[in-house]
Amino acid sequence: MSEEVKIDLVTINVDGRDVDVPVGMNLIDAVKKYAKVEIPHYCYHSKLSVAGNCRMCLVEMGMPMRDRDSGEVILEEGKPKIGWMPKPAIACSTKTSAGLHIRTQSPMVKECRNGVMEFLLLNHPLDCPICDQAGECRLQEFSTDYGRGYSRYIEEKNVKPKRSRIGPRITLDDERCILCSRCVRFSQEITKDSVLGFVDRGSYSTLTCYPGRELDNNYSLNVVDLCPVGALTDNDFRFKMRVWFLKPVKSICTESSVGVNTEVWSREGKIYRITPRQNDDVNDTWMSDSGRRLYRRAESEFRLFEAAVAGAPVTRDQALEHAGALLRGERVALVVSGHSTVEEHHLLKDMADRLEAPVWMVPHVAEGDGFLISNDRTPNTRGAIVTGLIRETPYDHIAKIKEALEHKSVETLLVVGEDLIAAGVDRSLLEQVQVIYIGPEQNETSQLATVVIPSLTVFEKSGTFINQNFRIQKFAQAIPGPKGVASDLSTLCHLAGLIGCEGSSASMESVWESIRSKIPELAQVHFGNLPDEGLLMDAARFAHLKFCETQSLHYQAVNPEPANA
Ligand code: SF4
Ligand code: FES
Repeated sequence: MSEEVKIDLVTINVDGRDVDVPVGMNLIDAVKKYAKVEIPHYCYHSKLSVAGNCRMCLVEMGMPMRDRDSGEVILEEGKPKIGWMPKPAIACSTKTSAGLHIRTQSPMVKECRNGVMEFLLLNHPLDCPICDQAGECRLQEFSTDYGRGYSRYIEEKNVKPKRSRIGPRITLDDERCILCSRCVRFSQEITKDSVLGFVDRGSYSTLTCYPGRELDNNYSLNVVDLCPVGALTDNDFRFKMRVWFLKPVKSICTESSVGVNTEVWSREGKIYRITPRQNDDVNDTWMSDSGRRLYRRAESEFRLFEAAVAGAPVTRDQALEHAGALLRGERVALVVSGHSTVEEHHLLKDMADRLEAPVWMVPHVAEGDGFLISNDRTPNTRGAIVTGLIRETPYDHIAKIKEALEHKSVETLLVVGEDLIAAGVDRSLLEQVQVIYIGPEQNETSQLATVVIPSLTVFEKSGTFINQNFRIQKFAQAIPGPKGVASDLSTLCHLAGLIGCEGSSASMESVWESIRSKIPELAQVHFGNLPDEGLLMDAARFAHLKFCETQSLHYQAVNPEPANA
């Protein structure tokens, strides 16, 4: 499904071992990936320019020596003679080339690291037990691995500002900053919001915002992930939990069709933070601040916990029976959501086919930011199209729903997770029909629904989404759902059975068996084996559709439709 890329390899020598690596690759990245050797570093970051200011990545380097006259490689005991540079060099500004030799563990390298650590720790406060970066601090880790273990410093430490506000979501402890400039380069190079910089010199140099400015763009929290020490902290997470108590689960951000790869960190059923997960084909290593806060939806005051019929609480089975009876009636239509998973879309397609019911989707279109938030503010519009649940883009579907209701061509409406009133459908029109509402939160539509069946948020279930590039990506369950609330998959399977769909099963593998047999683009996909970085689908069959997305980080939209659709 995905394209093969040809890479030119060269042989380099790492600590006496020959390793084949791509030519021209950054040495730190190449050695880590292909030789499984870590070169410690602070200021280097694979997605930022090279600053070369921390000196932690010093290694010994050499190249095969050549005869000045003939240009031939000089041999020594049958092997190329290596001309080692007299001084160590920084690995972060070196690219791989044929014959490059490096030593990462020699006495000279160890002494260099030792010296750099001593220098970095001169003015750094010894507050590891209370620092919020404990568990993720590279200064702490490298001082254990490469430091001297004791201090020779007898002068008074230079104490820098503490707990400064540099933006609405971020606190800066200047005294911990090691001046690596990652946050400064991120602001300059990635968000182009050049608000951070250093003032003063030498030991007095500090990070600060430009006068009158704050770091308040929607990508500001990436500097917290970037900061290798505990200088920058997220106000929302600060002092809430030690990271080693948290369990990270691979997930996908539902903020838009970009499908940013994330990790959801939880403990005992409570989510504490969401951080980006590297996927060079989707989001590099970044995510938006607004996406990080979506976990609050799981604790929303509007969560639904009980099934209801005509406003009165009933058991889930009673609600399902009632919904089944309505669906077996006349003139049924489905209103689906781009927030549902591919698996849920597939089951809904089976139901729509069985009922011969029209299907509409509520579009969520707003202006994208050209980076990691696209115009389509749902994660899986493509999923509904690939599964055949809808046959065209849904941008005019609200008008179609209104028209159908006005012409009284619908008696029962199955609504999955959407609020039709917020989307622009008149309450008076909805009041004329029987609504079955399945969703995690109550809204105006659920309030007037005949049958309400609660469901789970994206954090409480697993499944797949298909992003704007037709990349299918899976996400895992991070926390258990509320007691007694079943997943959409299980609710839809149950309803499908009640209306006579064949072979409906709520198990992920059996749903995928059915998906593989019916959708040619997904014929080779197995949920369990989907790679973490997702799979790019063949989207030729959908090339005629005009989607609303305009350009974002890794996506050049073809024939974009206006965002006001
Ligand atoms: S605040 Fe953190 S990321 Fe920014 S320069 Fe200081 S140590 Fe580096
Ligand atoms: S990582 Fe190379 S100098 Fe900082």
